[in-house]
Amino acid sequence: MLREDLDRIESVPMLPELVGRVLTMMDDPNVTAYQLANVVSKDQSLVSSILKIVNSAYYGFLWRISSVSQAVVLLGFRTIRNLALASTVMSSFSGESQTRSFDRRVHWRHSIATAAATTVLAKRWKKAQPEEAFLAGLVHDIGRVILDQHFPEEFDKVVTLAKAEQLSLTEAEERIFGLTHADIGRHVAQKWQFPDNIVAAIGDHHGPRGDGGWTNLAALVHTGDVIARWSGLAVGEWQPELDAEALNALGRNAEEIQELVEPALEEYRRANVFEGLIA
Ligand SMILES: [Fe+2]
Ligand SMILES: [Fe+2]
Repeated sequence: MLREDLDRIESVPMLPELVGRVLTMMDDPNVTAYQLANVVSKDQSLVSSILKIVNSAYYGFLWRISSVSQAVVLLGFRTIRNLALASTVMSSFSGESQTRSFDRRVHWRHSIATAAATTVLAKRWKKAQPEEAFLAGLVHDIGRVILDQHFPEEFDKVVTLAKAEQLSLTEAEERIFGLTHADIGRHVAQKWQFPDNIVAAIGDHHGPRGDGGWTNLAALVHTGDVIARWSGLAVGEWQPELDAEALNALGRNAEEIQELVEPALEEYRRANVFEGLIA
């Protein structure tokens, strides 16, 4: 990737300042539910997204939650923080695709399916917090949307090359940019000051890039990503293989994963409220 290309990534828009404040507040043990709700409430569209999600069948409350502070009390800080991050990223990057051959709706559908599958794995195997797993799955391919938004011409070449030579999109990215969407996603999530484990899961979901090996969350997202593709919720036609090292890190085998395909699809259907955020 050329120097000036990296500079263009440097100019990737920050997420709304408010999200940064929500993240900083989470590090302060003295923050109250009321204070968190108060900050979130400064953004009315964020408030309405959060209320829409917490009142959906996904959470299945029998009564209506009418305020963010009530949602914080019922679901906890971390859940509301993650929902705030998820809905901000989705609404900031759900506009028209810049690249002819890339469809953002398909992208987000794949991301929601990956989030749902990763959540199921996290719950079953108790290797990560389910909410963390959902957020990591939802944003794992955010680098692709950044490529679509900021490098549409080159990204179009990536898609064309992948089709012509039957490569995975990731391999084609590597050839054209010298970097993959995972690298770019890591870079951007770091700039956005996302929690470290989410940043690492984004950057390593196709394989660890440093020498640290697979983290639990990255291995879960990798597996969730593959399950989503097996279910037909993919971007591109290429079928990825499960990384044996990722499975090792989780202490699982391929048959155990097969059994979770159906529950993952069910979780995806339950999570359909998130599709409303792409519209
Ligand atoms: Fe990916
Ligand atoms: Fe993916």
